Amino acid sequence: MNRRTQVGIVGAGPAGLMLSHLLHLAGVESVVLEARSRKYVEERVRAGLLEQGTVNLLNETGVGERMKRLGLVHHGIELRFGGRGHRIDLSGLTGGSTVTIYAQHEVIKDLIAARLAAGGEIVFEAGDVSIHDFDGPTPKIRYRMDRSVVELSCDFIAGCDGFRGICRPTIPAGALTTYDRIYPFAWLGILAEARPSSDELIYAYHERGFALHSMRSPEITRLYLQCAPDEDPGKWPDEKIWDELQLRLAAGAGWKLNRGVVLQKGITEMRSFVVEPMQSGTLFLAGDAAHIVPPTGAKGLNLAVADVRVLARALTDYYANGNRELLTKYSEICLRRVWKVQRFSWWMTSMLHRFGNENENAFDQRRQLAELDYVTSSRAAAQTLAENYVGLPME
Ligand code: APR
Ligand code: PHB
Repeated sequence: MNRRTQVGIVGAGPAGLMLSHLLHLAGVESVVLEARSRKYVEERVRAGLLEQGTVNLLNETGVGERMKRLGLVHHGIELRFGGRGHRIDLSGLTGGSTVTIYAQHEVIKDLIAARLAAGGEIVFEAGDVSIHDFDGPTPKIRYRMDRSVVELSCDFIAGCDGFRGICRPTIPAGALTTYDRIYPFAWLGILAEARPSSDELIYAYHERGFALHSMRSPEITRLYLQCAPDEDPGKWPDEKIWDELQLRLAAGAGWKLNRGVVLQKGITEMRSFVVEPMQSGTLFLAGDAAHIVPPTGAKGLNLAVADVRVLARALTDYYANGNRELLTKYSEICLRRVWKVQRFSWWMTSMLHRFGNENENAFDQRRQLAELDYVTSSRAAAQTLAENYVGLPME
């Protein structure tokens, strides 16, 4: 079967769905092809912290209603080290910006509902998706649906299929440069039926390793522990996780972590990765397909949304005015933000984690403590953290 659309989008994560939504609002047609089922993408547990700009975009484009009701607005975060907590006043340091706790899969549900209500097409469980002819003006996406092969012709392809997708590897290797850093640790994360033990997020530097206290709602806590990169979650019974979190997060004698039933447990790998350029002919990569950041600072989803804002604007300008200039500059515009966000995520990661015996020495530990002391005592340093944490302005 042959069919046609203006923009073929591979992947129904935050990047692909938001792009389809923004294009629809600008009168540009798209089809989203997703390998997984709707249920799977709507239930996949990921990060859950939205920058001010992401929140504004969801509200301005009519998909913020549930987020406004269920999201938790945070005005600050806490850094804990040396047995004490230090608050970073995000709002006070940024002229009133905040971050919002709202799970990524809730954003996904809202975007899917909006696309379907507007008559948009998302093909779930598309099999064997492959992309062709993107070095020319009529690229094609092939996929399998109910035993037949479908060929979707389009003007442009958006590769929004995440880090392990097929779009980036289809670009001839010589056309891309990759920049990569793998960290010697991972995060063991749990989602628990427990009241958050603090109103705000806590990032803890501890001699036993990093820990993070986050949340999803007034009843659900999200917690993470630095662990070995090849850690087996089976070796971490719930009690051991709670005990370790209590040790690393405690500040002062009286502080007690609320415990509860562990609903989900998983390992998050830590990596920094960028590909340049983020485009090849009529193929444009966005989100995790082009770059990933370690989760310290929760930038992955927000960066994916920032990419597709640029891409939607460029495609809209092309369809409305025949102007290709923004499309030509897509990669250049995105990469300026990508590298600043890479720098921030790397910096937060480097400041807060133990790097292990081979890579770390007493000097590094003293330096990390000095960095934390500086960030929590100098207004200029705290402001630098805050303006990055709530999200740098869009270009
Ligand atoms: N064909 C079709 N769809 C695919 C294929 C394929 N070959 N490969 C992957 N996908 C789908 C995945 O199932 C997923 O739903 O592409 C989607 C990519 O979504 P994400 O991985 O969420 O990536 P992105 O939209 O860029 O969002 C980045 O998500 O992974 C988190 O931490 C990350 O917060 C960041 C954000
Ligand atoms: C989360 O809530 O999942 C979360 C929050 C902040 C981070 C990373 C993850 O830096």
